[in-house]
Amino acid sequence: MPFQLPTQEEKHAYVHDQFERIAARYDLANDVISLGMHRFWKKLAVDVLIDGPGRSGNRQQRLSGKYLDVCCGTGDLALRIAERLDRDGEVTGLDFSGNMLEVAKQRTAKHEQSLSARTNFVQGDAQNLPFDDDSFDGAIISFGLRNLTQFDRGISEMARVVKPGGFVVNLDLGRAKGAFFAPMFKLYFRHFVPIVGAVLQNDRKAYTYLPESKSTYPDPEGITKLFQEAGLTNVRHVGLSSGSVALHVGVVAEK
Ligand SMILES: C[S@@+](CC[C@H](N)C(=O)[O-])C[C@H]1O[C@@H](n2cnc3c(N)ncnc32)[C@H](O)[C@@H]1O
Repeated sequence: MPFQLPTQEEKHAYVHDQFERIAARYDLANDVISLGMHRFWKKLAVDVLIDGPGRSGNRQQRLSGKYLDVCCGTGDLALRIAERLDRDGEVTGLDFSGNMLEVAKQRTAKHEQSLSARTNFVQGDAQNLPFDDDSFDGAIISFGLRNLTQFDRGISEMARVVKPGGFVVNLDLGRAKGAFFAPMFKLYFRHFVPIVGAVLQNDRKAYTYLPESKSTYPDPEGITKLFQEAGLTNVRHVGLSSGSVALHVGVVAEK
């Protein structure tokens, strides 16, 4: 039977159920599917969140500040942010999947106390963030926006909870470029990813949704437009790995 994407009404519960199922081996599958590249993309995204685009701050220097990782999953990115912060810094990871958060908490507990002390996790909906306006110095979402029912709502919620002047960052699928690479990437993504899901997670369906979800997700230009409509300024994006992944950043304007 051909794969059918969930309807808008079904999507929230469908995506929740899927991440509850695949949480335990999510990180392993991520490494295999991205050939380890997600580590490089995330490092860059964290540098942009903290230092701003095009700036090469002193990355050895620890900074204070409060940051939010939306759709934090297993906490990988939140911990990378925590590593850049000093003892007054704080990072909050938010996700709606209890099982993903459980992995995040277990992983965090394995780190040195000073790092785990400035990392906390909250269960909630990215489209209705349980935080006051202007609560954070910056917010990031990584491979999460595509899973939301309302992309615009996810972006405007991040803009709402970040203070003016702070950055909102999105890392997600882009548009692969190149006469050879683009069709190869499409083939790889469509056919190889479900096989990885079947072998590593015994869940081909969840890993068929992953490439298929791209069809309802805007191109990088469309995401730029959504950032601007959410009131973010100086919006820019860069394509990574021949455009297959896009990193967007915008600045929160005075409110
Ligand atoms: C593909 S994973 C990304 C995890 C992590 N950010 C990363 O880059 O590895 C997507 C995550 O988004 C979460 N998610 C999807 N929709 C959500 C929503 N409406 N509110 C909160 N979390 C959501 C899922 O539970 C899942 O953990």
